Amino acid sequence: MRLILHDLPTVRTVETISAMQRLARQWQMQRVPVSFVPTMGCLHSGHLSLIQCARRIIGPRGKVVVSVYVNPTQFGPAEDYANYPHNLFQDRKLCSRAGVDVLFVPSDAEMYPAAFSTWVVEESLTRGMEGASRPTHFRGVATVVAKLFNIVLPTAAVFGAKDFQQAALIQKMTRELNFPIKIVVSPIVRERDGLAFSSRNRYLTKAQRSRATVLWRAIQQARASLGARPIPAARLKEELRALVEAESGVRLDYIEFFDPQTLAPAARVSRGTHIALAVFIGRTRLIDNAAL
Ligand code: PAF
Repeated sequence: MRLILHDLPTVRTVETISAMQRLARQWQMQRVPVSFVPTMGCLHSGHLSLIQCARRIIGPRGKVVVSVYVNPTQFGPAEDYANYPHNLFQDRKLCSRAGVDVLFVPSDAEMYPAAFSTWVVEESLTRGMEGASRPTHFRGVATVVAKLFNIVLPTAAVFGAKDFQQAALIQKMTRELNFPIKIVVSPIVRERDGLAFSSRNRYLTKAQRSRATVLWRAIQQARASLGARPIPAARLKEELRALVEAESGVRLDYIEFFDPQTLAPAARVSRGTHIALAVFIGRTRLIDNAAL
């Protein structure tokens, strides 16, 4: 492959917690606002929209920091941590083109030193849905995000709406632990056929990729099934389960209908109720959600 000079990534990359904290404190003293986008890397159009949102909310004088860290503690033992895609060279290129000021890429040794045993645990919003299917997931997410907030010291942080329950958790954690950070939730970015951008889409074969549109089709069908009156959630779940499981090699993990503010499950579904679902396509687990 021939490298063209202007394609070489130029974004400033910081690899240690102490260097990142030093820089963050300097910005704080100079009253420079910082907008932060935490990611696990392998950046795609969904992440780029978060970065654009981060720039928009902080303005040209502010700094945009993106972290790339595949956080081991948010993966269960039978999940895809070992295979999770990495492409730091491409991430640096994309960040450099997107006008990111600093890419923070910490190591496991620094993030989780030997005998690490301090966790951030939310005990209400995270019980159902992803929390039920992935019991230690949100403890890992809350802990790493709290650590990143303490390292990057942002004024604002941007999270994607695709991880709806994660975004709700971060908003609650930020409020309840008094982080002086504005949390912004940015809309889902979808491919033309409705599939939400996700780093895990890379795992799909061509045939699986075409079956993966079933998540978006299920959301569309839920919308189409709603009439003027609320309908029982159990009935709609069965209808959507049949749609999902009609696809060969696709297995439903869960479908939930809930109040978007409290995440409390809804017994009856009407306009404004939120839907979230998770499916396995082969071994790849994908999630999606939408307001109905
Ligand atoms: O949404 C993600 O990519 C991750 O859960 C996050 C917020 C970067 C924490 O590891």
